[in-house]
Amino acid sequence: EKGGFEHFMLKEIHEQPKAYRDTMRGRIDESGKKVVLPELKLTADQIKNIRNIQIIACGTAYHAGLVGRSAIESLVRIPVETDVASEYRYRSPIVTPETLVIVVSQSGETADTLAAMREAKANGAHVLAITNVVGSSIARDADDVIVTLAGPEIAVASTKAYTSQLIAFYLLALYLAEVRGTQTPEAVAQIVAAMQALPEQVESMLAKPDAIKAYAEHISKHEHLFFIGRGLDYAVAQEGSLKLKEISYIHSEAYAAGELKHGTLALIEEGIPVIALATQEAVLEKTVSNIKEVNARGADIMAITHEENVAGLLKSVDQAFAIPKTLPLLTPALSVVPLQLLSYYASLARGNDVDKPRNLAKSVTVE
Ligand code: F6R
Repeated sequence: EKGGFEHFMLKEIHEQPKAYRDTMRGRIDESGKKVVLPELKLTADQIKNIRNIQIIACGTAYHAGLVGRSAIESLVRIPVETDVASEYRYRSPIVTPETLVIVVSQSGETADTLAAMREAKANGAHVLAITNVVGSSIARDADDVIVTLAGPEIAVASTKAYTSQLIAFYLLALYLAEVRGTQTPEAVAQIVAAMQALPEQVESMLAKPDAIKAYAEHISKHEHLFFIGRGLDYAVAQEGSLKLKEISYIHSEAYAAGELKHGTLALIEEGIPVIALATQEAVLEKTVSNIKEVNARGADIMAITHEENVAGLLKSVDQAFAIPKTLPLLTPALSVVPLQLLSYYASLARGNDVDKPRNLAKSVTVE
């Protein structure tokens, strides 16, 4: 049942190339240049009238929502808010019939997400669910559903469901951009082509786990560490940090790299591991100055970046791991993979129950 893998989590990490392909299949037209989402009931007129979007989810699905927000805001220029489902109701969210609410849930059964969705619906929003389970409560209650085709996810720590959610968000953002005319057909075609290259790029990383495995064994001896990044790197840092805490029980915090000096830098001392995500070229220089801040305090830094930045970064980091190159917006679909492997191998090195971490359930059906 684990297909030759020691754990479901590792099997599911390796199923990601397939999950990306399956989630894209039938949603890119024959020309290979355009996104089609035939399952949507949302009409072109409704799409043109959307005034604001709210993305609601919990945990890892919320982290996918952070990337979704960037994708929609940058490609479609509609304002997007992202909320943790258990908090959504308490801030009197502003919902009108021109609000599109997107709920994201692998299981489709998360109580907080379901409750937030019902509240949004009662206030007149059109609700679109991104879920991995067709017959789930969330899928049944939503006005529209985009199914991620990740296949069943057994390990408590979500991996292929998260990355399939990213793919679903990219497809949705492109589709909205086509309908609202906010991107040229050439720009859309370029992103679609880059998306189609992602599965092979993931495969290339999965074929070489040794460097990440060795680094995981190193951090497994620590009790605290930090992830830093800016922009989309920060969104991925949050997911990497959650995954690591969840299965390795190492305490970690994800920090927006620019926020460190506003307090957290006080915690950086000799030898503390810092994982710096430095894949977003537009903010690279600024991230590098934050890397230098922690380096000067003796942190033990590992950078996740692109090949061409490795030599330069090695002046201020202890090691660097290069990921394949794609468009900046799509990079989370690649940069999260080494972080998934990192938590897996750190959990393994600590002798934990990787697939069933303590105190956690796969589906959280209480608020
Ligand atoms: C972490 C993890 C959780 C879930 C969260 C939401 O690895 O799996 O954070 O993402 O409980 O679950 P769903 O997506 O089923 O609503």
